[in-house]
Amino acid sequence: MKILGIHGSPRLKGNTRILLDAFLKKAYKMGAKVHKLEVAKLNVKPCVECGSCEIKGYCALDDDMQDIYPLIWDADLIVLATPIFFYGPTAQVKALIDRSQALWARKYRKGLEDPGRKHRKGIFIGVGATKGKNLFDGSKLIAKYFFDACGASYIDEYDICVRKVEKPGEIHNYPEILDNAAKKGEQICDMYLKRKKIVFVCKENACRSQMAWAFFKKFYGNEFDVRSAGSNPAEEINPNMVQAMENIGIDMAYIKPKSLDNLLKEFTPQYLVTMDCEQECPYIPGAKKIEWDIEDPAGKDMEFMVKTRDIILDKVKKLYEELKDRTNVSKNK
Ligand SMILES: Cc1cc2nc3c(=O)[nH]c(=O)nc-3n(C[C@H](O)[C@H](O)[C@H](O)COP(=O)(O)O)c2cc1C
Repeated sequence: MKILGIHGSPRLKGNTRILLDAFLKKAYKMGAKVHKLEVAKLNVKPCVECGSCEIKGYCALDDDMQDIYPLIWDADLIVLATPIFFYGPTAQVKALIDRSQALWARKYRKGLEDPGRKHRKGIFIGVGATKGKNLFDGSKLIAKYFFDACGASYIDEYDICVRKVEKPGEIHNYPEILDNAAKKGEQICDMYLKRKKIVFVCKENACRSQMAWAFFKKFYGNEFDVRSAGSNPAEEINPNMVQAMENIGIDMAYIKPKSLDNLLKEFTPQYLVTMDCEQECPYIPGAKKIEWDIEDPAGKDMEFMVKTRDIILDKVKKLYEELKDRTNVSKNK
């Protein structure tokens, strides 16, 4: 399970950070992989409304946001944490939110869906000094539309909204609030960490294993933590593969080939699906190995790529039927 925590206060040791950390620390202890962004330390320029994302599908501004887009789509859970400034989020957070318009455009202008969209969730954390009834309304509405652009469903029952906290670190005076944040971290992780773990592997992680990953994640990401990797990863994913997936509405933007060795340092799969990496794929104790015989479409024409995509889609559906009712993890063949 991967969590992206977005910390939006310019006070790096302020109340919002302490609250967010209570949530994230618990999630980390339970086994989630946590990435925290200190937005105030990053260079994220405000949107200049140039229209590039609506035409090309990518933001034209060259700054730290380019590294944040892939993190957003890689996350199972996004936690947006901000102090309340004038009944809204901080300007630093708002700049990041406005720049998510590039993701919005991919969905609502280009009609594409990233593979994680159906199962990704978003949680809002807010801290304000006053006790006003409507203190969080503006920020929560903004969070809702931010999460939609990111392809995350906003689960507002997990909101953590704290009033009447102002001085830096004052939130430490309320241990029950921090305990509650940790409890919410625990509850949501419990749900995600129960999923079975599967990895799709080919040599370069540029084509076949990426398509298998995308289909499996899109359809069954609620039951499986799905990853893909390569025994010898390429520099970039295959552009014909990206096109073949876009033709059926699946967005493969921001994806890079990943190394299997690195993945296995943090992820112990129960199922390992291999395509053409016989000698190089490692033995993983406790993991059931499933071998797929699929010809490599790299260097072949678009028609071959489309055929391969459809073969993989069919295999993914059959594999799920085989795996869904298994309760015991079998040993390697
Ligand atoms: C520019 C600015 C605007 C603020 N506006 C509000 C506000 O509208 N309502 C409120 O309750 N608190 C407001 N506050 C107070 C902060 O939300 C509060 O101090 C919070 O604890 C800061 O969180 P932090 O320690 O994580 O930075 C404002 C603070 C600043 C600096």
